[in-house]
Amino acid sequence: MKQHTPLFLGPMAGYTDSACRRLCREYGADIVCSEMISAKALCYGDNKTHELAYFDPDERPIGLQIFGNDPVCMAKGAEMVYERYRPDFFDINMGCPVPKIVKSGDGSALMRDPALAGQIVEAVVKAVPVPVTVKIRAGWDESCLNAPEVAKAAEAGGAGRIVVHGKTRVQFYAPPVNPSIIAAVKQAVSIPVIANGDIDSGESAKTLLEQTGCDGLMIGRAAIGAPWIFKQAREVLEGKPQTEITLEERFACMYRHIDMACEQKGQDIAIPAMRGHLSGYMRGLYGAATMRNRLNQENDKEQVRALLKEYYFSLKNKEDDHG
Ligand SMILES: Cc1cc2nc3c(=O)[nH]c(=O)nc-3n(C[C@H](O)[C@H](O)[C@H](O)COP(=O)(O)O)c2cc1C
Repeated sequence: MKQHTPLFLGPMAGYTDSACRRLCREYGADIVCSEMISAKALCYGDNKTHELAYFDPDERPIGLQIFGNDPVCMAKGAEMVYERYRPDFFDINMGCPVPKIVKSGDGSALMRDPALAGQIVEAVVKAVPVPVTVKIRAGWDESCLNAPEVAKAAEAGGAGRIVVHGKTRVQFYAPPVNPSIIAAVKQAVSIPVIANGDIDSGESAKTLLEQTGCDGLMIGRAAIGAPWIFKQAREVLEGKPQTEITLEERFACMYRHIDMACEQKGQDIAIPAMRGHLSGYMRGLYGAATMRNRLNQENDKEQVRALLKEYYFSLKNKEDDHG
């Protein structure tokens, strides 16, 4: 029997909320995760932070990702949020490159301290009764590609799986991804390793899997405004041609996304937060820049829908003229 390669949605702050994750699950993402949540803020009982951990039962299996650098605080934060939400696993962020985070010693700063990384994993593993996974980078910079060492420390601490974003902290998100360092992590540990970086099509998913020999793949930015990327990746991994999305389905997905987000958060919060997603959905479409500007001025769900409807029909007419 053919092996099912699990496809993960990459956690993305400001994007991968419950509505986004549910849509990705519907299109075939096997495992999703919350965006990074501050363990310190969880420990202080900050309500807004606790709300970041909200998920719908349909999203399972889901992980909650926490960040921080103090093993005691990470363990306590995980324990508190576990009691309230019961996620299927916890993930520890060791990849965030944002200066504010790194300056505090969190996120990818942990790549520079494998021993502390291992202690954090160990403390969280002891605190919660579900698996603990880790998301790391290739290393700090080209002179310090130590992902295998950090992965080994995490495995020794009890981590159940490692995601490797195959870029250094210094690179941020700039290409290229380094498949060799991801492959080296896969060779270094015996727990499952998930490859991540620059997947933007079914073909590139298959290539990264072949180059790294990993146990699964994670897709981040390409899923923003295109949750069907998971279906396309699955098709190509199964040796089928990639199905292209129709204009109808693209817009139907946008309407559903808006409805789901508004239902969960209310339109005052959901509509501004949808802007990045809507830009993504319109990527590559004729007149997208003009439409984006118009949409960015709307805060009312019905107005947004009306604008999108108008846009859809203008694109449809164009398609018919050329078809
Ligand atoms: C806007 C944005 C927010 C992100 N937030 C997180 C986060 O909260 N936690 C995390 O582990 N990674 C975060 N990432 C990194 C992604 O999960 C992923 O590792 C990265 O984008 C590489 O994958 P890709 O090339 O498929 O996008 C973020 C990336 C972006 C672009």
